Amino acid sequence: MDWGMENRLSQLIQEDGHCMFLPIDHGYFQGPTRKLEQPGKTIEPLLPYADALFVTRGVLRSCVDPQNTKPIILRVSGGTSVVGHDLADEGVTTSMEEAIRLNVSAVGISVFIGTEYEKQSLLNLAKLVDEGEKYGIPVMAVTAVGKELEKRDARYLALCCRIAAELGARVVKTYWCENFEKVVNGCPVPVVMAGGPKVDTEREAFGFIYDGIQKGAIGQNLGRNIWQHQYPVAMIKALRAIIHESADVDQAEAVYNENAK
Ligand code: 5RP
Repeated sequence: MDWGMENRLSQLIQEDGHCMFLPIDHGYFQGPTRKLEQPGKTIEPLLPYADALFVTRGVLRSCVDPQNTKPIILRVSGGTSVVGHDLADEGVTTSMEEAIRLNVSAVGISVFIGTEYEKQSLLNLAKLVDEGEKYGIPVMAVTAVGKELEKRDARYLALCCRIAAELGARVVKTYWCENFEKVVNGCPVPVVMAGGPKVDTEREAFGFIYDGIQKGAIGQNLGRNIWQHQYPVAMIKALRAIIHESADVDQAEAVYNENAK
């Protein structure tokens, strides 16, 4: 692997082989998402516990201090909205030149497998990989399901992750599901877990992240389950304990209880 690519990946994936990404990219299709109305304020207390931020260029420039931040994964796909025709109809919104100008550690793009826009989103990924490899910038593929959350099963997600890896993604972000080992085992590049809508209890979030890590995921990229929570710092500290300190669900809950004030 070339030095630049390896250096960027090592900014994201820590020495223990794990990673804790903090996504705040939701506004690119959801607008001012609840608790992310002012992204700068949302991330301020959470940043010390994240290994990298997943963000669009607009929020990066306007809400993230360039002198005091973490490695950046730049969301470069979009062009759709929750009130539009189809969330899957994405294009590439940001050039590689812009990604380099912003000194990012990786770029992230969604693929929508099984939709009318499957081919378009996969070719977007493949072209982005061509550009990224030219400049040593890793591409993280996001296996998106749009509004169809029920699609999140092992057969479908394993298919998506494998295709994204085959097209050259260096990291794949996907949802946790039952039998998650099928997803990880079929994917030749590291898998990071997304969260999805906020779950009912903290323990539920700790449970699926713990299970995913046991089954081979290298880390997590949870957004709403952290920053829409009543105690976001307690949540991120507890999840970080699972990712970086080998905590189990009970130990994560103890970290949460210590900090939920
Ligand atoms: C939105 C994304 C988010 O980064 C991803 O869904 C993680 O956030 P959450 O845990 O809130 O689902 O890719 O398109």
